[in-house]
Amino acid sequence: MTRVLLLGGSGQLGTAIVRRWNDCEIVAPSHDELAIEQSARLADALTTTRPDVLVNAAAFHDVDRCEDEQKMALEINAFSVGRAARLAAERDVLFVTMSTDYVFDGAKGSPYTESDSPNPLSFYGASKLAGERLVEAAGGRAFVVRTCGVYGPSRSPSRRRTFIERILAAGKSGEPVRVVADVVASPTFAGDLADALRKLIGTAAYGLYHAAAAGPVSWYEFAGEAMRHARVELAIEPISAKQWKARATRPRYSALESAKLGELGIAMAPWREGIAAYLALGVR
Ligand SMILES: NC(=O)c1ccc[n+]([C@@H]2O[C@H](COP(=O)([O-])OP(=O)(O)OC[C@H]3O[C@@H](n4cnc5c(N)ncnc54)[C@H](OP(=O)(O)O)[C@@H]3O)[C@@H](O)[C@H]2O)c1
Repeated sequence: MTRVLLLGGSGQLGTAIVRRWNDCEIVAPSHDELAIEQSARLADALTTTRPDVLVNAAAFHDVDRCEDEQKMALEINAFSVGRAARLAAERDVLFVTMSTDYVFDGAKGSPYTESDSPNPLSFYGASKLAGERLVEAAGGRAFVVRTCGVYGPSRSPSRRRTFIERILAAGKSGEPVRVVADVVASPTFAGDLADALRKLIGTAAYGLYHAAAAGPVSWYEFAGEAMRHARVELAIEPISAKQWKARATRPRYSALESAKLGELGIAMAPWREGIAAYLALGVR
């Protein structure tokens, strides 16, 4: 049985991994028990757990806060990830870590593949890109997997509502619901992402991958489709990204094409199926 040491096990992706990797033995210390910055503790955990795979699903991914707390963003998203990759490499443990669509600037205007050049607009995106490069420099067996707009149940104490939950809540409270119509992404159900990762680590095709729901979609269209699936009648007002003020600059277009996964025969579900699978878990 594959033994997995999982960081960030209470988050959206971590929760899906714990629930869905049923053929693996998973050890998932909490953030309090093991922060990724604590490299000496991580080394001890690798020694005592003796995993086949170290999965890092932890990150500092409050995109706006990363602009103000750049040192922390670099430490958690880059330097600690690089050290974790080196610790794994020294022990010949497979390392898996996640990156983001925010490494791209959006200028391409069609789904990004692994061969497109990154150009992050935000400090968060830059810190994740630095993490990608440090994993590569560590030289061990590793998968670096970029994903996009992850949503799913989470057991994290610091959990924030998913985009779909926020729309549902706004609808219930009678507030006007405004969603950007000119920002296109690949919102990805965490369960589908966890399933793809499980298949990927069963291969020896190490490297950089995109893993996101198939098909680009604007957040406005995604919100409308989610409400139709939930059978909630709600007037959603389309707005432009210019009307949505945020500290960090985000790409207008950051849909990802999971091209290399496709070459391995690992298919990502279309975004509509992700909504259905998520709502089937009873989210209201
Ligand atoms: N969410 C998205 O839309 C999105 C998009 C693209 C890429 N990604 C990437 O996908 C990965 C998973 O994202 P997610 O949405 O599952 O994240 P999430 O739900 O926010 O979960 C993050 C997890 O990491 C833990 N954590 C945070 N800081 C930590 C630290 N310094 N040391 C150890 N654990 C720490 C959190 O625990 P506590 O809550 O207890 O702190 C939580 O368990 C991340 O690498 C993220 O950058 C996410």
